[in-house]
Amino acid sequence: MADLDLLSIRDLLVSIAHKAGTMITTAHPSTSTSGSKKNTADLVTETDRAVEAMISTSLHAAYPTFAFMGEETYTPGDRLTDAPTFICDPIDGTTNFVHGYPYVSISLGLAVGRVPVVGVVYNPFTQTLYSAVKGEGAFLNQSTRLPLRDPTPLALSNALVAVEWGSDRSGNDLAVKSDTFRRLCAAREERGGMVHGLRSFGSAALNLCAVACGSIDAYWEAGCWAWDVCAGWVVLREAGGRMVDANPGNWEPGLDERRYLAVRAGEGQKELIEEFWGLVEGRFEVGP
Ligand code: IPD
Repeated sequence: MADLDLLSIRDLLVSIAHKAGTMITTAHPSTSTSGSKKNTADLVTETDRAVEAMISTSLHAAYPTFAFMGEETYTPGDRLTDAPTFICDPIDGTTNFVHGYPYVSISLGLAVGRVPVVGVVYNPFTQTLYSAVKGEGAFLNQSTRLPLRDPTPLALSNALVAVEWGSDRSGNDLAVKSDTFRRLCAAREERGGMVHGLRSFGSAALNLCAVACGSIDAYWEAGCWAWDVCAGWVVLREAGGRMVDANPGNWEPGLDERRYLAVRAGEGQKELIEEFWGLVEGRFEVGP
């Protein structure tokens, strides 16, 4: 990686994100023109496919030897390798996009040795750009360093927590989510976390950036994919946040292992993770 110019790669990803943003904001999706993948809650549009084609063509022209992993061209069963790999989601928040809810992003990441090292996340509706390069810090709109304010000490009972239902709507993992959501919110006398609130916005990449900003204290999800989290992971880490497994006990989760708990910067990070894990009801089966 020593000879890779990560700042130039960041600049290329920023320019591609802006181009993708124009494609997204000028499209006219609707619930009647979108299609679905594994079930009716797993949506895809022509715009997702067209944006991914533009992204992969642009990246391949500039870095022909790098691998590419994208949501719309992924072959089930493929795993990440140590090779430099662009990991991209053309539209993270497709359901929001289809409904006209402006919490949508383009998520463009680079991993080397399976470690996320460059991340660009862009919401074209609010024109909000998050970017980060390993060792160089994380930024909002390329000028404001993250987190946005001095981190206060963390405490689960003061926390605003992002969670997502995702599109897997049956079985063990749905039960782990719904039982844990209840437990996080329940009063202390009911053995709950009594968090300030749960939020479910619909874009993993933007959720990670909100944790990096410090406006969300923690984000917990299982079922999403490497392209949902690669770019946001760099932004999170460069802002002093930490990513661990959504299942209790694993402090070093793999990028494509599909279970994530992100916690913002601040004193008490480790303690908050342990307390959070103590409230997880069961174990997720998703992932390798
Ligand atoms: C989805 C979003 C959502 C998360 C899902 C993802 P998509 O990505 O990130 O927040 O809950 O698991 O699949 O499908 O809109 O790219």
